[in-house]
Amino acid sequence: MIIAIDGPAASGKGTLGKRLAEHYGFAHLDTGLLYRAVARVLMDRDVPLADRDAATQVAQNLDVSHLEDDSRLRGAAMGEAASVISAYQPVRDALLAFQRQFGEQPPGAVLDGRDIGTVVCPSADVKLFITAAPEERARRRHLELLRRGEQAEYETILDEIRRRDERDMNRSTAPLKAAADAVTLDTTHLDADAAFQAALRIVEDKGS
Ligand code: CDP
Repeated sequence: MIIAIDGPAASGKGTLGKRLAEHYGFAHLDTGLLYRAVARVLMDRDVPLADRDAATQVAQNLDVSHLEDDSRLRGAAMGEAASVISAYQPVRDALLAFQRQFGEQPPGAVLDGRDIGTVVCPSADVKLFITAAPEERARRRHLELLRRGEQAEYETILDEIRRRDERDMNRSTAPLKAAADAVTLDTTHLDADAAFQAALRIVEDKGS
């Protein structure tokens, strides 16, 4: 069983994916971490993000263990950098097989990202597209960064979210969009618990 979750930055996909996976006893992959990890290696080596060949090589040789434990990956700078290198088709190609294999594991897997329902797992059993108003997403990301101890201004985050939406939705390769058979869940007025309950109902409806 595969549950695919897509949506824009800070829409709550990660939290939701984790909770659904725990509920069903499935494995969970936050695929954004893969792109963030590629960006981090480039930045650590002082390689410009514009260097497609270097980004591709890093993606092809990425060590995918311990991604979850690395808190630096979750910082704002890494998200922005990930959005740049994730627009390169060869980078996406290099990370595809791992994501597909991850989805195959029994008894099931939850993957979240931008193109899970459209490209990575087009035949997923359930596809959720999680959205929320940019202002609400910026509010959540702001809180999250402050909790992590990062310096963060709400207005800057809102600008960044808008820029990232624009880049992710308008790129030619695997743009962010809902799959035709995805169910859209707008979490603007839902807290994490309410979003989880709503998602659970969608999964149960699909499964029955
Ligand atoms: O948590 P947040 O939504 O801010 O970011 P993320 O899910 O970690 O993704 C960071 C960036 O990686 C996104 O802005 C996308 O450009 C890219 N990404 C992607 O292209 N495809 C995915 N499946 C996941 C992330």
